[in-house]
Amino acid sequence: MPHNDITANSTSKECTFKKSITVEGIAIESTVIESIAIESTAIENTAIASLTKNRRTIVETIIITGANRGIGLALTRQFLQTQRAVIATCRQPDAATDLQALSSNPNLEIRQLDVTDLSSVDEFSASLTEQTIDVLINNAGVTGGSHQSLKDMETTSWLATFETNTIAPLRLSTLLLKNLRSAARPRIISVSSYMGSISRPGNGAYAYRSSKAALNKVMQVMACDLADDGIIACPVHPGWVRTDMGGSTADLSVEQSAGGLIDLIDKLNMAQSGHFWNWDGEKLPW
Ligand SMILES: NC(=O)c1ccc[n+]([C@@H]2O[C@H](COP(=O)([O-])OP(=O)(O)OC[C@H]3O[C@@H](n4cnc5c(N)ncnc54)[C@H](OP(=O)(O)O)[C@@H]3O)[C@@H](O)[C@H]2O)c1
Repeated sequence: MPHNDITANSTSKECTFKKSITVEGIAIESTVIESIAIESTAIENTAIASLTKNRRTIVETIIITGANRGIGLALTRQFLQTQRAVIATCRQPDAATDLQALSSNPNLEIRQLDVTDLSSVDEFSASLTEQTIDVLINNAGVTGGSHQSLKDMETTSWLATFETNTIAPLRLSTLLLKNLRSAARPRIISVSSYMGSISRPGNGAYAYRSSKAALNKVMQVMACDLADDGIIACPVHPGWVRTDMGGSTADLSVEQSAGGLIDLIDKLNMAQSGHFWNWDGEKLPW
């Protein structure tokens, strides 16, 4: 059952209180912000009973990278539908029209973040100060271009692919540990790909496959390093999804993939940390 720890003052038009709820058997502490219309003297008797409420309940705060299109945008939409606050990040917020179309939602914050730009990442991390972050989703990713065959391998773009797909998730995760540590059930989720599975042979796509294989290892090591802190860290495969990257003939819609990923993220526990998960909750081989 919920219990509330309420603080309010009679001159303020907002009050904030902590609320504990139970999701999947796990107690989650949430911050609730009330927008209130104060009825003069009644506030002295009870902060809540006298309020006309326009409540926005924030159960968890989620950061998503690459949230302007594709899977990141769908994750943003669906998390917002489940009373979560989303800090949706992208390289060019002003050009992110689909994301901006959601901006009337008070639980959405749109922020600039290029995950390979060190100053952008540092500035973003510093701006969060001590704000609690429950889930970081390293979603931003690139295919690595069209020169990835045995006969035509372009190594400069290969390195750039590693920067985005492998190094950036580790760097951002490290900088946000200060924010994740104060969460009740902190999770770092990196959107990887089954194309990076060592146990799954396939042709070409050297840069993409190797960057995701390395990301899987990064997440496994991170899970070991963060186990004592109670932080869950997992790579996930979103399925083959109809996005700019996945193409129009892919198996899944972005809504199916994001819905499955959110179910998975909501259920993940410490015993599942450091493993590779499919969008539908199935455990994948490395
Ligand atoms: N679609 C699939 O079938 C599939 C399958 C397996 C794995 N995945 C993975 O799922 C994730 C999302 O893929 P998607 O299909 O949604 O791809 P997408 O439609 O191509 O979107 C990629 C997103 O990543 C962002 N991004 C790229 N580089 C960035 C950077 N340096 N900083 C910030 N954002 C950056 C893009 O931003 P801009 O708009 O600014 O370029 C865009 O928002 C990727 O990690 C991908 O590898 C996808």
